[in-house]
Amino acid sequence: MSLPLVPLPASVTPSPGAPFLLTDDVAVTGDADAAGVLHRLVLTRTGLHLATDAASERAEPAHAGRAAIDVTVDGDGPPESYRLAVDEHRVSIRGADAAGVFYGVQTLGQLIARSPDGWVVPAVDIADQPRYEYRGVMLDVARHFHDVATVTAYLERAASLKFNVLHLHLSDDQGWRLALSRRPELTARASSSAVGGGDGGFYTADDYRAIVAHAAANHMTVVPEFDMPGHTHAVGLAYPEVAAAPALDRWDAAGGPTPVAGETYTGIGVGFSSLRIGAAATDAFVDDILTELAELTPGPYLHFGGDEAHGTPAADFAEFVARTSRVIAGLGKTPIAWHEAGAAGDLAPGTIGQYWGFVTPTDGADDRARAFVARGGRVILSPADAVYLDMKPTADAPLGLTWANGPTSLERAYSWEPGEVVSGISEDGILGVEAPLWTETVRDLDDIDALAFPRIAAAAEAAWSVPAGAVDDRTWESFRARVGGLGPLWTTFGIRFPASPEVTWTP
Ligand code: ACM
Repeated sequence: MSLPLVPLPASVTPSPGAPFLLTDDVAVTGDADAAGVLHRLVLTRTGLHLATDAASERAEPAHAGRAAIDVTVDGDGPPESYRLAVDEHRVSIRGADAAGVFYGVQTLGQLIARSPDGWVVPAVDIADQPRYEYRGVMLDVARHFHDVATVTAYLERAASLKFNVLHLHLSDDQGWRLALSRRPELTARASSSAVGGGDGGFYTADDYRAIVAHAAANHMTVVPEFDMPGHTHAVGLAYPEVAAAPALDRWDAAGGPTPVAGETYTGIGVGFSSLRIGAAATDAFVDDILTELAELTPGPYLHFGGDEAHGTPAADFAEFVARTSRVIAGLGKTPIAWHEAGAAGDLAPGTIGQYWGFVTPTDGADDRARAFVARGGRVILSPADAVYLDMKPTADAPLGLTWANGPTSLERAYSWEPGEVVSGISEDGILGVEAPLWTETVRDLDDIDALAFPRIAAAAEAAWSVPAGAVDDRTWESFRARVGGLGPLWTTFGIRFPASPEVTWTP
C-alpha cells in the first residue's frame, strides 16, 4: 500500500475513481466537534477554509450537489472505530463514537496530497478499529519540567497518531511537579530544580485541569503518576519525616553527583531514594497525595510508580505497593504500577502492570508482569529497547541515552510484536502499548520532537494496528514507505522531526 497511513488501518481498499478535490467551496456537515477538528486540520495542512456551518448547508437545497465532507457519529461498530469513504464527489466519515470520527479525520489528514490540480484526497474505502484500548505516550515532566504549552503540543502530536492516553510522570528525585493543597510544601520546596540544575517548575491545579481538558478534546485520557516508594528524593526536601536516607550501596550513579538528604538532586542516577515504609507519617502522606490526585483526575487510572526502588528493602517494598494499590482502589481508581510491583503478593485485584523490560525479557521482568494478570489485572507493554523514545536513535545523536541495548533505530522501534514479549499472557491480558519519553536530556519541544519522531509512529502502529506480519502491509518495509509520506504533514504541523536516514522522505 503506498498511501501514507500510520498507524496502518485495519482495511484499506483504494478505488480506481478520480480523487476528491479539496477547495474553499467544500462544505462540512455533521458532528460539530469533528467538523471543527477537520476545519483546523485542513487549514493547517492546506491553508483552505472549509465551510463548517453544517446547519446552514443542510438548509440550503441549492447546494445539494455541492462537494461535501460529512462527519457523523452513527454508533455502529466497536469503540473508536470509523469508516472513511472517498469518491470524486464526497467524503464520508462515520464513527462508532466521537473518538472514532476524530480518528477518521486524522486518517483523512494523512491522505490529503498536493496534485497539479490542487489539494486532493484519493478515492478509497477504509474501515478501521484499534487493536488495543490503551495506546499511550508518557512524558517525564520531572527530570526536566515541560510547561502546559509543550505538553498540549505533544499530546496533539500523539492524538494525530491515534494515541489515547497521556501518562504524565509528575514526580521524581529531581522535582515535584503538581501543586497539592493538602501538601503545599511539595511544590513550595521541591519543584524548583531539574537535571543539570535547570529551573524546574510545576503545574497548578488549574494548569493540570487545562491539560486534562485539552487531552479530552483530543480524545486522550491523562494518567498521572506519582512515583513511589523510590524516585522520591524531592519529597524529602518538603516532608523530611517521610523520606529515608539516601541508600548509596545499591544505586546507579550514572557518573553524576551523590545525593544528599535535604538538598536538591540534579544528577540522573537512580535507585537511591525511598519513602520511610511503615511510618504513620508516610501512610498519611500517601493517602493525602493520592486522594487529591484522584479528585483532580477524571480518568480511571492512577499510576503509583514502583520502579527501581533499590533503596527499599524487599519486604517493605511489597508492603508499600500492596497498601498503595489498595488506597487507589479505595478511591475508585484503577492502580497502575511499573512491573517490579508484581513482586508483591497482595496488590489490589485488577492492578495494571506496566512492563518496561526488554523485548526479550531478562532478570524475571516477565514473571513480574505475569503476576499482575494472575491477580486479575492486565499489562501495558513498554519494552524499553523498542518504545523508550528517549533512547538515542543513532550512536552519534546529540540527545538521548543508550542503556536499553544501545541506540534504538527506527527499524528496531518497529520490529517487535506486542503479543510475543511476555509469554503466557493472552491478547485479553494486554491492556495496550505505551511509549515513554524520559527527559534526562530533553529540555523543550524541539528536543521532544528530535527524539520522539519518527519512532513514535512505530509505537502507534504497535498499539493500533493488527499484529506484526498479520497482513502484507504490517511490515517494516511497508511502514518505512508509509511513514516517509507523512513528512509534509508533520512539517505543516510544525514538528521538527529528524529526517531519519532509514526512511525516504516525501519532500
Ligand atoms: C523505568 O524506566 N524506570 C520505568
